[in-house]
Amino acid sequence: MIRAVDEVGRIYGDVGLGQFHLSLSQPVERGDYLAVDDELHGKVLCQLDDLKRKSDLGLEAAGALKPTEEAPIHENLLGLVRIIGYRDARGVVKIPTIPFRPGAHVFRADEPLIAEVLGLKHRPNSGAYVGLLRNHAIHVELDINQLVQRHVSVLAKTGGGKSYLLGVLIEELLRHKVTCVVIDPHGEYGSLRFSSEPNGGHARFGVSAQGFAKQVREFSPDATLNPGAKPLTFSLRHLDPRELLVFMGLTNVKTFLPPLKQIIERVSISTPDFTVHDLVRAAEAGEGAVAETLHERLEYVEQTKLLGPQGTSLNELVKEGDATLINLRGVAPDVAELVVARIASTLFDNRKRGKIPPLFLVIEEAHNFAPQQGQVTSSRILKNIASEGRKFGLGLCVVTQRAARIDKNVLSQCNTQLILQVTNPLDLKAITQSIEGLTNGMTEMIQSLPVGVALITGGGYHTPLFCEVRPRSTRHGGESVQIVAA
Ligand SMILES: Nc1ncnc2c1ncn2[C@@H]1O[C@H](COP(=O)(O)OP(=O)(O)OP(=O)(O)O)[C@@H](O)[C@H]1O
Ligand SMILES: [Mg+2]
Repeated sequence: MIRAVDEVGRIYGDVGLGQFHLSLSQPVERGDYLAVDDELHGKVLCQLDDLKRKSDLGLEAAGALKPTEEAPIHENLLGLVRIIGYRDARGVVKIPTIPFRPGAHVFRADEPLIAEVLGLKHRPNSGAYVGLLRNHAIHVELDINQLVQRHVSVLAKTGGGKSYLLGVLIEELLRHKVTCVVIDPHGEYGSLRFSSEPNGGHARFGVSAQGFAKQVREFSPDATLNPGAKPLTFSLRHLDPRELLVFMGLTNVKTFLPPLKQIIERVSISTPDFTVHDLVRAAEAGEGAVAETLHERLEYVEQTKLLGPQGTSLNELVKEGDATLINLRGVAPDVAELVVARIASTLFDNRKRGKIPPLFLVIEEAHNFAPQQGQVTSSRILKNIASEGRKFGLGLCVVTQRAARIDKNVLSQCNTQLILQVTNPLDLKAITQSIEGLTNGMTEMIQSLPVGVALITGGGYHTPLFCEVRPRSTRHGGESVQIVAA
């Protein structure tokens, strides 16, 4: 039976259909779930959105008080409450169409009511367990099918806990054998292989420490700097001269593209299966500053071993049920953009042709790969995946500490948002503009969320909810570097 316990106050003043005012007799925190007994529909779930203490102590009277003097103050604790609704006989969440009566009792909602109306239930096959509903022992799961079909954004200021939460999500995908590819600019996710140190948090959340060594495959364009990773190489034959310039680190297209094209044309006539070494030899003969630069930069590309005759094969890169990490630590930004563009296009093309399983593509530091201002090499393909990927079972997950700096079209295509603490006003504005259903109270709460608490919107839930992120089963790789010993 659904039962509300603990009266916390009464409704007062004018009562609307979406919200009402509450005079509190018990302390309740902002965000807490409340219930009102409706004559027609039974218990209706509500949430405290705002709180203030109203008093009859005026400014002048307060100023006139002596330091030790206690004034006889008459005060009221008043709340603004948002009505979430009840589930009807068909299981649909509805809001009563007749306002509650002023004077009606308001209770603390019990957990069965909260879980039922919010739709929090255990889905062994399709639920990704991300944590507990804040201040409750109710599990919050995200529907994995929704994640892949509707795209996700993870937004928070730096140090807000984005990578930690994403680690939790990837652990869940690995447990459910869902394929994922992670663009990992800082080489943080290799630690998914290793089990975390069990602590008290694990027991409270019902999490066991476990590594996923067998399901993690890691590649890097710079395998020397990242020894845990296999070398990621690209096929020279499938690269156009402009892209080759990016690998060479040359931005002056006007100066360098025509002579590079000439070299490639010459070499391809004599050696159809040419290698970078053949290009280096051909560039050697040139005279003048431009030719010298081309020669020197081609030598550099040869040293990186990034471009081979074959390139890393798709079968090697993506395996059903595994997580592929593309570790870009130490890779120059323009090369990283090209790598992301290449990988994303290959995945999208092959997904369209059904050659690889449905997958979840995670882009960390996404503001660098699909910026709001200007175009980078990876912008176009990421916009395409954001708008069309879902049709082909390619779910996109963008992670950024600058919501205002990521392409608005990409952000607005994400139907599940995982938001941790955000304080920058521009980022907050970008978030409120791209998400429906955020109340003023929620926007204010986002600014003061403690580390490890996320606001989840979408994801199959019809109302935003606050979730205390569960501890990691695996080790977190993004620990802050200590400058001096603590
Ligand atoms: N749910 C959590 N439980 C416990 N500790 C956490 C949690 N989330 C984050 N932390 C801690 O907070 C710190 C920052 O987290 P994280 O690396 O995920 O931040 P971030 O948002 O990815 O930052 P950046 O923008 O710099 O990449 C880490 O040291 C991590 O251990
Ligand atoms: Mg991070």
